[in-house]
Amino acid sequence: MAEQTNPAEKAGKRATILAVTSGKGGVGKTSLSVNLACEFSRRGHRTVIVDTDLGLANAHIIAGMKPKQTLSDYIDGKAELTEIIEDGPCKVKFISGGSGVKEMANLDDNGRARICVAIEELTPFCDIILLDTGAGVSRGVTDFVTLADHTILVTTSNFASIADAYGIVKVIVQDGYDKPIHCVVNRVRSPEEAEQVFLKLKSCTERFLGFDLNWLGLLPEDSSVEGAVLKRAPFSEAFPGSVAARYLAKLVSGLERYIGTAKPASQVVKN
Ligand SMILES: Nc1ncnc2c1ncn2[C@@H]1O[C@H](COP(=O)(O)OP(=O)(O)O)[C@@H](O)[C@H]1O
Ligand SMILES: [Mg+2]
Repeated sequence: MAEQTNPAEKAGKRATILAVTSGKGGVGKTSLSVNLACEFSRRGHRTVIVDTDLGLANAHIIAGMKPKQTLSDYIDGKAELTEIIEDGPCKVKFISGGSGVKEMANLDDNGRARICVAIEELTPFCDIILLDTGAGVSRGVTDFVTLADHTILVTTSNFASIADAYGIVKVIVQDGYDKPIHCVVNRVRSPEEAEQVFLKLKSCTERFLGFDLNWLGLLPEDSSVEGAVLKRAPFSEAFPGSVAARYLAKLVSGLERYIGTAKPASQVVKN
């Protein structure tokens, strides 16, 4: 699997934008996004997480935060971009998408375009921007995936989850998306189970869409993930010795190789 990197990323001129998406809801996107952000930050990458699950944002819960201002305030003109960036766990910078805000869930193309511009404005000031997307194949999801330099596609071994993962790849590829998509199989009981799911998905995208999916890795079914939610902390912080945390580290090493930024940026964000 060839590495695909953006020359500007290598020159360190702008952050790499990673979208975490799935098709189906409840497969572990938010948990993965927050913990990926923490792991990137622990390795010295200046990391921002943006909860783009507009109106139903819940990454702050997994991050153990109570955001004072959100993208909703930015869209309403009540806050500047800099005012909605909050300090999250592990020195991650955090932007919430607003929770229980109907107007955000129904945001029009223009509103989403403004959020995309805001995300682009962050790129000179950090190394990694993680976008936690909502579920589904609507423009509310695909607009953010299209903005990303790399997409992380999450599925479980559940058949509906695999079908929906194929569905989101189909929609974005037919829209012209040609950047790398890296697959994570979550909640598996064995590496073989993950491999089977990945090969099934990859053969479908190759055969029917002519699109080559990359393997990124797996996260095991691990009670630490749920346990950390109860503690209102990312699992990699609450349970750093857990099996899930070990596999998370492998995912980030894989992403560093795909992105081509294995070395942390020289300038680490100062809190
Ligand atoms: N590897 C895992 N092991 C155990 N539980 C998990 C794992 N990954 C996610 N979960 C649980 O699955 C549920 C849904 O996760 P979430 O990240 O909110 O999914 P999504 O963002 O895709 O809707 C949460 O209760 C979470 O704790
Ligand atoms: Mg989510």
